[in-house]
Amino acid sequence: MTDMAIEVRDLTKRFGRFTAVNQVSFSVKRGEIFGFLGANGAGKSTTIRMLCGLLQPTSGTALVGGYDVITQTDLVKQNIGYMSQRFSLYNDLTVEQNIRFFGGVYGLDDQRLRERMAWVLKMADLEGRETSLTRTLSGGWKQRLALGCAILHQPRIVFLDEPTGGVDPISRRNFWELINQLSAEGITVLVTTHFLDEAEYCNDIILINAGSLIASGSPMELKTTHITTPLLEVSLEHGEIVDALETVRTQPWAIETTVFGTRLHVMVEDEEDGRKQILRLLESGGNRIGSIDRITPSLEDVFLYLLEHDGRRAGTTIQQG
Ligand SMILES: Nc1ncnc2c1ncn2[C@@H]1O[C@H](COP(=O)(O)OP(=O)(O)O)[C@@H](O)[C@H]1O
Ligand SMILES: [Mg+2]
Repeated sequence: MTDMAIEVRDLTKRFGRFTAVNQVSFSVKRGEIFGFLGANGAGKSTTIRMLCGLLQPTSGTALVGGYDVITQTDLVKQNIGYMSQRFSLYNDLTVEQNIRFFGGVYGLDDQRLRERMAWVLKMADLEGRETSLTRTLSGGWKQRLALGCAILHQPRIVFLDEPTGGVDPISRRNFWELINQLSAEGITVLVTTHFLDEAEYCNDIILINAGSLIASGSPMELKTTHITTPLLEVSLEHGEIVDALETVRTQPWAIETTVFGTRLHVMVEDEEDGRKQILRLLESGGNRIGSIDRITPSLEDVFLYLLEHDGRRAGTTIQQG
């Protein structure tokens, strides 16, 4: 046994002539939170379904918990938890009935089911709502109930496919606390998201675009290896940031220009020259500069840069915080 929970080599999935996942390779360490980032349609769910033994790869190999996803599908399924993108709860069942249903699927005996039921109700903050119809629960509650059902049998590896999609920001934050707790207990969590800010909470990340892996590493590694030219953050005391974006982005010395909230991020070849150019250009256009600071790139800067410079189809629906 290696200390890797998941090992993926050249995993590929084609649907007819369309390649949804293209020779993807990565490894996930035991107990880590591993983030799988990419825009809608990048191939995240397809990859997860192959790793969970639910979809046959076209080529390549993957070991999950030491089991081969192609030849040991049943062992893979018994040893993982999987929360699918649509939460897979039965809306017409009560909270308690949903937990019992999953207990049956995993073959828990009465004693263990009672213990785990109590644990899920507490974890999901659903004590007192055992007999509520699942349909009537808010998004955040449904999400936590779905997580509870996915890990009822206490698997060591958990796959969460966009678990924070469609829930409010507070629930998103609470959910990440639950993910951290799982990781602290030594459980390996692979989580997909198209929210860039969530990448910061992960130990390691991969970014895929149009089925291919374009970057991997820890948040710190990603921030320090890809963008080596200076990044300047510009705030305006007077003027419209969107107009400033349009003005700066067409300049040859501006390698990359993006709006981040009320500020402009401009990647330049040379810091001093960049400062002068920005000042001259924007002030002559009637703006007044508040500040120009050199900053460390955020993961959002890095990902947007990588996606724009990826030769393949660009991901456009990726979301900033
Ligand atoms: N069963 C399928 N048949 C054909 N195309 C599919 C099928 N499943 C997914 N795809 C396509 O594969 C691509 C990747 O999909 P998916 O893995 O769901 O992306 P993501 O989860 O990153 O949004 C998409 O273009 C999608 O339309
Ligand atoms: Mg998906």
